[in-house]
Amino acid sequence: MSAPRGQFTTRFGFIMAAAGSAVGLGNIWGFPTQTASNGGAAFVVVYLVLAFLLAYPALMAELVIGRHARANIVTALSSLSDKPIINSIGRATGFYGVIVASLILSFYTIVAGWMICYLFASATDLVSADTATQWLTTDSIDRNLFSSFIFAALTLFIISSGVQNGIEKWSSRLMPVLMGLLCLLIAYVVAQPGAMEGLKVYLLPDMSRVFEPSLIISAMGQAFFSLSLGVGTMLVYGSYLSKDDSLPRLGAIVTVVDVGIAFIAGLLILPAMYVAQHAGVTILDEAGNLIGGPDMIFQVLPALFNTMGGAGGFVALAFFALMTIAALTSSISMLEVPVSLAVERFNIRRPVAAIAIGSSIFAISALIIFNFGTLFGFVIDLTTKYSEPLLGVAICLYCGWIFKRNLLLKELKEGHEDIEDSLFWKVWPLYVKVICPLLILATFWHSLS
Ligand code: PFF
Repeated sequence: MSAPRGQFTTRFGFIMAAAGSAVGLGNIWGFPTQTASNGGAAFVVVYLVLAFLLAYPALMAELVIGRHARANIVTALSSLSDKPIINSIGRATGFYGVIVASLILSFYTIVAGWMICYLFASATDLVSADTATQWLTTDSIDRNLFSSFIFAALTLFIISSGVQNGIEKWSSRLMPVLMGLLCLLIAYVVAQPGAMEGLKVYLLPDMSRVFEPSLIISAMGQAFFSLSLGVGTMLVYGSYLSKDDSLPRLGAIVTVVDVGIAFIAGLLILPAMYVAQHAGVTILDEAGNLIGGPDMIFQVLPALFNTMGGAGGFVALAFFALMTIAALTSSISMLEVPVSLAVERFNIRRPVAAIAIGSSIFAISALIIFNFGTLFGFVIDLTTKYSEPLLGVAICLYCGWIFKRNLLLKELKEGHEDIEDSLFWKVWPLYVKVICPLLILATFWHSLS
């Protein structure tokens, strides 16, 4: 006999878990950096439009399929049709999603490990443990293995505790802390000299760039990654939802929280960059562009914290705690994808599945750490640039063409009695069937040519 399926106990719990999955390094790091290198607010405008026009409908496809099938991505996608061949293709698509989720987790663990290093370093710095601080802030294989291991262990611990005691409990605790830390940091940074310059770069759009293809493609990739789409995380979280909840409403809340936190994170990161410049830190590279990527997080911002005197240590601590929490509530959703499959399909006990799969993914992280130059960028591109949008298209097509229409509409009505009066009801079914896949494919095609 297999164990009974987990379920979120409250609507708040689901929202915190799904928003926790969505809000991650992609929001607090990826979004502000992309904004800075893509014409400031022009990128924000395009991102907002695409998040609601493309990512929200795709998110809804995952939630509806998940709650209907009450199963992991593989079982769900292989049970929607009466035709064995279509179900076999669904099974293969599901397995591909599980592999992509696991690969995303393998590089995400490394990056989150860096956040842990700087979190610990902020603490060792406060007590003047200089040797430890030096080790933690110097890039080395040992250090990266150590910090990735700690992060992987945290992820594994939460997932082995199950849906209610693991995912729901920890997301509901950590997400409010994340929001609190973000607000405190913004209040502090925006009051520093130079911050207004950063706000201007962030909020004044260079409208001439709004239709630039590269900007649109970056914004789409960012929207998909940010809402954790394509790999079955939202599908499996949807499968733990009760039938009393309205899916379109919950999906909209999660999208608004995700987009909102990305936007708010921009209010922290870009002003912080210009405060750093005001304090004498170099924030532009040789080509005159704002420094992005790891250098921004691990050089420019720490240099800024150093100029802040006594408060700097605490600001650093708060900032890296924020990053670590954001990463953890996302990584648990990635690990849940393969673990839910192992528990439901292969009848493996959850803690055993979590340990076995978590350790295997950590082994992949270690492989990437040892071959960083060749594998790190490759795995990121393979998963986020190519696989996520294509899997997103596949899930929309399954939802629109394979999922029986009467069952789909019935699922949407659960928990939302008056849905037939809504715009969502009139537009979404056709939208997810035709328009959404075409738009995603068109954007994707453009990014390849
Ligand atoms: N949404 C996360 C972020 O913005 O950092 C990343 C992510 C989580 C991607 C879960 C994919 C996933 F399945």
